[in-house]
Amino acid sequence: MLTTRQATLRKFWYSIMPVSMLEDGPRPFRLLGEDIVLFLDAAGKPAALKDRCCHRTAKLSKGWVANGELTCGYHGWVYASDGRVIRIPQLSPDAAVPRHATPAYRCMERGGYAWVALDEPLTPLFDIPEDGAPGWRRIHQFYDRWHTAPLRLMENSFDNAHFAFVHRGTFGDMAQPKPMKYEIAETDYGFAATTVVEVVNPPHAYEVTGCTTPTTTRTMQNHWYMPFSRRMDMTYPSGIRHVIVNCATPIDDGTIQLTQLLYRNDSEADCSTQKLIEWDEAIVNEDREVLESTDPDAILDVSLKLEAHMPSDRPGLIMRRRLLELLAANGESEIRRGM
Ligand code: FES
Ligand SMILES: [Fe+2]
Repeated sequence: MLTTRQATLRKFWYSIMPVSMLEDGPRPFRLLGEDIVLFLDAAGKPAALKDRCCHRTAKLSKGWVANGELTCGYHGWVYASDGRVIRIPQLSPDAAVPRHATPAYRCMERGGYAWVALDEPLTPLFDIPEDGAPGWRRIHQFYDRWHTAPLRLMENSFDNAHFAFVHRGTFGDMAQPKPMKYEIAETDYGFAATTVVEVVNPPHAYEVTGCTTPTTTRTMQNHWYMPFSRRMDMTYPSGIRHVIVNCATPIDDGTIQLTQLLYRNDSEADCSTQKLIEWDEAIVNEDREVLESTDPDAILDVSLKLEAHMPSDRPGLIMRRRLLELLAANGESEIRRGM
């Protein structure tokens, strides 16, 4: 699917960057092919505007922020966080500022990230109940640019058949190529998929899993939030929960920004932040190598034909059906591409 061709995708929230990255000034980002600029308003909250000055089109991200106002670096026009021009230094001080503005987008903070919706969102941004809850810690694991499509990343996130192969170097077990089946309950936001997966548990995984047996299990509740976010809540027999929140933010038709937040109900003494980042980084890099080799816009007939024999492909097939229904419901049945 070529994401920039589907206007419906503009009506969802996407994670853009850690709010802390905005402390030094405005930052550019490309979302669904659209250049935007993020900065902090006077209250320290993230704001997003089109990255185009309405005077002579300079990129506002090349300017600077003072007191929550964004100044264009070309002729010094000053913008409020809602996109209005509030000062034009070339005018005499007593002249009224003419009504000019650059488009502003919905922007909010969640999980320490700035999230943006380009058009009026069809659904609210999903909750992260662990964020700020007692007994939980939050780790910003990744903020990486990948050359793949967000749908490829999402279907991979619910595909238990790749563990034995792609993750044979970490937790996958080549001797167990037949995957556990997901129980899937469709919801208005996407679906909730639950399963129990047996994984290898070598000694260097003990701190991560809290278990010291050669193999262990992950009880997984994996939620898909249309179109390109998910939350995977894994519980080990030790009681440790490893909750991953991903957003595969579409940058353009062949590139995504992968955000990964991790929540754990243990402490730094149980398992260090560095260990947890390195652990999931090794796993995610295994996925990255194979996903960057896939086609972002392919029509996957093979998978459709095999559905009856391949229950592990079911989550991805449901995703494609739901996304097609979503696009059709928003008048986009004609221009959709390969899914
Ligand atoms: S182009 Fe921005 S102030 Fe002139
Ligand atoms: Fe994977």
